[in-house]
Amino acid sequence: MKLQEHKATLSFSNGAPSVELPIYSGTVGPDVIDIRKLYAQTGMFTYDPGFLSTASCQSSITYIDGDKGELLYRGYPIEQLATQCDYLETCYLLLYGELPNAAQKANFTERVTKHTMVHEQMQFFLRGFRRDAHPMAVLTGLVGAMSAFYHDSTDINNPEHREIAAIRLIAKMPTLVAMAYKYGIGQPYIYPRNDLSYAGNFLRMMFATPCEEYHVNPVLERAMDRIFTLHADHEQNASTSTVRLCGSSGTNPFAAIAAGVACLWGPAHGGANEACLNMLEEIQAMGGVAKIGEFIAKVKDKSSGVRLMGFGHRVYKNYDPRAKLMQETCNEVLSELGLENDPLFALAKKLEQIALEDDYFVQRKLYPNVDFYSGIVQRAIGIPVSLFTGIFALARTVGWIAQLNEMLADPEYKIGRPRQLYIGAARRDVLPIAQR
Ligand code: CMC
Repeated sequence: MKLQEHKATLSFSNGAPSVELPIYSGTVGPDVIDIRKLYAQTGMFTYDPGFLSTASCQSSITYIDGDKGELLYRGYPIEQLATQCDYLETCYLLLYGELPNAAQKANFTERVTKHTMVHEQMQFFLRGFRRDAHPMAVLTGLVGAMSAFYHDSTDINNPEHREIAAIRLIAKMPTLVAMAYKYGIGQPYIYPRNDLSYAGNFLRMMFATPCEEYHVNPVLERAMDRIFTLHADHEQNASTSTVRLCGSSGTNPFAAIAAGVACLWGPAHGGANEACLNMLEEIQAMGGVAKIGEFIAKVKDKSSGVRLMGFGHRVYKNYDPRAKLMQETCNEVLSELGLENDPLFALAKKLEQIALEDDYFVQRKLYPNVDFYSGIVQRAIGIPVSLFTGIFALARTVGWIAQLNEMLADPEYKIGRPRQLYIGAARRDVLPIAQR
């Protein structure tokens, strides 16, 4: 980051001395005012719940221009990565900063591939869960449990351990997600096949059975790979910030990533694709396209507590570029599977069109986000709704690790410890129970 010559001056109307604060610029995006010494200089904190104006770190991984609707991984536009690279190339880019050449790609793919199997004992750990447990509950547990299975890669301060943990997590997440699914439906686990692509192997672990051969459909394989690429990283969102905060205490990488999985589960974040599909099904059950107006009216009525899921974003105040790519994939998958007339897809398209023309959404700059179409694609592939967020977690794992490793390598990194504006009772004394 570059220190600017000009400074920000904070002055107070009560006559307290003003304070000069340094300003830094990044490569692109808003400058930041450095307030680290503010408390020492003024005895005051800043107040910013939800981090609306706070940069929590410096990062060189992902950049979002919310007004333009632009998403860059290490400077490369998501549109180019999604159409010209595969997910493992994207993982390499996020982890190491550059796209791999052919030899680097082959080497990285081999390293990931060699780690796809999980410790056999993890099956028994998984068996402790109820069969109807939500896959995100299972995944939070399984990822956290990896720290108990892979002791040789838990030292977060050891770069070699961090590297092995990164490869293990990327390699094993598809296996764990598929195991969680198979367990839930009572089918045997399918071991990974390392001659398949990352996405192809995942589809096989999900949908093959020991009874017959499974052939990976290249259209679905490409769609899966794109879902992974589009979800790979998204700068300092809630789950990534959770991973950074959790990792800042020096905990092991598996524990930090498990914290990310837990955070992602929420419906305002990764759980939105599940919530979006449930919403579409609910409108369909109400009467479909004819009922969109009624549903939109409910969304606009703040007292209803209903939101249009898959719409709106903290950073994008324009069309989410991932949503466009996902819509393209949606068309491809539905046409491959002969589902062009899928009523939910038709409903989603109509809902999007109506919302984009509605003043409520226009004024608030609410556009479709990636989750608006990803649920329809996944449903068409045969993935159950409850597993959508698990697949998001699988894809985002690389982003979490890249961000965690970046933080640990940053000489300015400290344990994360926000301050607060305390509004509770001032000091008081405990009364004997009879007097309370
Ligand atoms: N439907 C209806 N109204 C909305 C919506 C929505 N989906 N999103 C925001 N608004 C309204 C909100 O009520 C508020 O209106 P007003 O100014 O009248 O009070 C205004 O828009 C600003 O909303 P906000 O809650 O202050 O915005 P935020 O930046 O805190 O929230 C969000 C961002 C993603 C949580 C929110 O847009 C939302 O709940 N969307 C639905 C859930 C969703 O699709 N999440 C996926 C995000 S993308 C995947 C990921 O990164 O995890």
